[in-house]
Amino acid sequence: MNGKDLQAPAFPDGRLERDQPKWRRDFPIDVEADEYGARRDFTKFLVLTSLAFACGQIWIVFLSLFRGRQPAEQRIAAITDLEIGEAVSFHYPTDRDPCLLIRQSDDVFLAYSSQCTHLMCPVRPDLAHNRLHCPCHEGYFDATTGQPTAGPPRRPLPRIHLRIDRGIVYATDVEERAS
Ligand code: FES
Repeated sequence: MNGKDLQAPAFPDGRLERDQPKWRRDFPIDVEADEYGARRDFTKFLVLTSLAFACGQIWIVFLSLFRGRQPAEQRIAAITDLEIGEAVSFHYPTDRDPCLLIRQSDDVFLAYSSQCTHLMCPVRPDLAHNRLHCPCHEGYFDATTGQPTAGPPRRPLPRIHLRIDRGIVYATDVEERAS
C-alpha cells in the first residue's frame, strides 16, 4: 500500500483511483472542488442578478421623477397660421415627440401626440372626416376627442394641453390617457 492509497478518495463512488474505470482516471473530477465552484458561481450569479435588479429599480424611479416634472411651456404657432380645418405638426415636450395641432373652428384648437397608440406609426390628419388616420394598419382616431374609432388602436392619443395668449398657441402639458 503506498501513500497515495491512504489518501481520502476524491471519486464520487468512494473507491480508490486504481479501482476506477480508465475514462475516470483519464478525466478525474474533484467533486468537492467542483461543487465549491458551482456554489461560488451561483452566489456570483445571485449577486449580479440582484445588482441588475436594483439598478433597474433606481432607473425606473429616476425616469418617473423626470417624467413627473411639468414640461416647459412651448410656443407652437400663431392662430393666424392655421385656417379652420387645418393642422400643423410640432414636437412636444421633446424633439422626439411628434404632435399635431388642429384648428377645428374659429376658437377651438386641439393638439395630440401624432404617434399611433398601436405601434407608434405617425398619424395623419383627415379633417374633412374629423379624424386622424394611421396608414400602418388602418387605425382611426376621432379628431375631437383623440379616441380610437376603428382599426387596431385601443388607447386614445395623448392630448397636449394648450394655452392661447395674444394670438399665440402654446403647449403646456401632456395628458396621458388610459382609455
Ligand atoms: S401603428 Fe397605427 S394602426 Fe398600427
